[in-house]
Amino acid sequence: MGDGAGTGAGAGRPRVFVARVIPEDGLAPVLAACDARVWEDELPPPRADLLRAIEGCDGVLTLLTDRVDDEFLDRAGPQLKVVSNYAVGFDNIDVPACTRRGIPVGNTPGVLTETTADLAWALIMAAARRLPEGDRYVRASRWKTWGPMLLLGPDVYDATLGIVGFGRIGQAVARRAMGFGMTILYHDVSQLPVEVEAAYGATFVPLEELLARSDFVSLHVNLTPETRQLMNAERLGWMKPSAVLVNTSRGPVVDPRALYDALSRGGLFAAALDVTDPEPIPLDDPLLTLDNCLVVPHIASASRATRGKMGAMAAANLLAGLRGERLPTPVNPEVYEGR
Ligand code: GLV
Ligand code: GLV
Repeated sequence: MGDGAGTGAGAGRPRVFVARVIPEDGLAPVLAACDARVWEDELPPPRADLLRAIEGCDGVLTLLTDRVDDEFLDRAGPQLKVVSNYAVGFDNIDVPACTRRGIPVGNTPGVLTETTADLAWALIMAAARRLPEGDRYVRASRWKTWGPMLLLGPDVYDATLGIVGFGRIGQAVARRAMGFGMTILYHDVSQLPVEVEAAYGATFVPLEELLARSDFVSLHVNLTPETRQLMNAERLGWMKPSAVLVNTSRGPVVDPRALYDALSRGGLFAAALDVTDPEPIPLDDPLLTLDNCLVVPHIASASRATRGKMGAMAAANLLAGLRGERLPTPVNPEVYEGR
């Protein structure tokens, strides 16, 4: 395993495992303060290596590809003080299991909101205006002349956008939609305060109505038991045949077989996915045979600046946890109750 450059010596310094090379803004403070072992491969540590690597650690910096559960926590040992996840999502972590053991879990909220909304926007535009298809068309020497009927798609300007999950990222997408003169509908577990709705001119509607009315549907929910397969065959069936579905949340929120059926039968105009189920999407997945399905490899937060900020936040959470201080951004603040 890649433990060469990333191994800092030093008795008395906390032992940590960093599950991948992250940007310098995150790695440098960790290496400066800890006896850190860094997994340097492109691929995540296989389960057995991960479990071996975290044995006896005081803190771990994990990614959304690393499952943190009771087995993980048992192997790490009772001295484990903190789990810092380099992501805003934390569905890879059994948070209640951490809380039961008094272990705070950190994530990286806020810093990736605008960057993720940018990618959702890029996917909306790219799917509507068929950019990947157009690029393939040119490279395949098929561009012969200006074509009145060539690669037509829907307008984004003035269309209706349905945002499912109206949290930080959903609202950032709404802000972009305002500049495109869109009608903005949203659905969430509950209606937001009128000030929030007014700020975006957004209207709360039941999911069924949102899906039936929207020209573009963008998903921004956390993955939970309630949102798993939220977009199943029935709900995809409520969407307009001319509509575009964009997913930058988590792959399992959409049933991929039902999506394939809808896209291939003309039930939907197009889909654009930053996340798939499973990840990576297998090359023989039928979705990849479709011209109207755009797939990119889970890159919504992938701007240089944002990945650096995520690194700094993940390091700050890790180091605070090691010092026994409250994490700047804990996902289970209940762990501090009664302390
Ligand atoms: C990425 O998907 C994240 O949760 O940060
Ligand atoms: C298109 O390029 C146009 O001039 O209509």
